[in-house]
Amino acid sequence: MALKIIITGATSGIGLALVKQYDKQGAIIGILARRRDKLIELQKTLSCKSLIFSVNVTDLEQCRWAAEEFMALYGAPDIVIANAGVSSGTLTENFSDLETIKKIIDTNLIGVMHTFYPFIQPFKKRGSGHFVGISSVAGIRGLPGAGAYSSSKAALTNYLESLRIELSNANIDVTTIAPGYIVTPMTDANNFSMPFLMPAENAARSIIKAIKNKRKYVIVPWQMNFIGRIMHLLPISIWDWIAKKAPRKKNITL
Ligand SMILES: NC(=O)c1ccc[n+]([C@@H]2O[C@H](COP(=O)([O-])OP(=O)(O)OC[C@H]3O[C@@H](n4cnc5c(N)ncnc54)[C@H](OP(=O)(O)O)[C@@H]3O)[C@@H](O)[C@H]2O)c1
Repeated sequence: MALKIIITGATSGIGLALVKQYDKQGAIIGILARRRDKLIELQKTLSCKSLIFSVNVTDLEQCRWAAEEFMALYGAPDIVIANAGVSSGTLTENFSDLETIKKIIDTNLIGVMHTFYPFIQPFKKRGSGHFVGISSVAGIRGLPGAGAYSSSKAALTNYLESLRIELSNANIDVTTIAPGYIVTPMTDANNFSMPFLMPAENAARSIIKAIKNKRKYVIVPWQMNFIGRIMHLLPISIWDWIAKKAPRKKNITL
């Protein structure tokens, strides 16, 4: 039977690569993002059954509408991948960054909760389901110049952990994916060297494998896994010393 999958943020980057690979597997895909023209363009390239929804994940009613439309036709999905996210360098001292900070937290954290909410009861009723959140290695420790992005992903990782434990008795899986550097429009904005930079297609392949194997927490690429584990363990004074020299994300208008 065809896998039924919901993917947010699939008009570019990692989400787009996931849709293309699930398309090859003959899945039924519900695709959510804001840019309608890109969604229409993408749907034309797919051979699988798909539904497109022009949705802003910061709006719960829009997420609920998309979920209900999908479930009315195909029933509850097997997998829901909350991938939509935004990034920008931010500094709390800049008044103009405060709006950007809100947008980042709203999209990267609350947007994931909005994405999952409409599916929790249907998953519980059926007694199965799989939620996947795309967090980041940037959420492992605080990164200077990216307080909003880094904290949004730290909060997301912890939220996904809470959800995983909450839903474990209901036979519902939760997978946290923490990418390092992946080639997408998001990283195109970076003007510094990015270790172990991975093409989006390869990242999507690793993510799909992690989902299939019902992994709880996976860092991609695997080389970043080593760095991520070390980042987690470093004493505060050593982390501060290293991170002070880290390159900073550009400020982007979101
Ligand atoms: N690339 C990396 O190195 C990297 C590393 C770690 C984590 N990540 C995470 O991976 C995820 C995908 O990032 P990416 O690199 O593929 O970035 P991307 O190419 O910029 O894609 C982001 C996607 O999210 C959608 N989106 C953004 N805000 C949205 C909103 N409010 N509502 C609905 N859709 C929204 C965008 O589509 P529309 O503009 O059409 O809405 C787009 O499809 C993000 O959560 C990101 O934080 C990426």
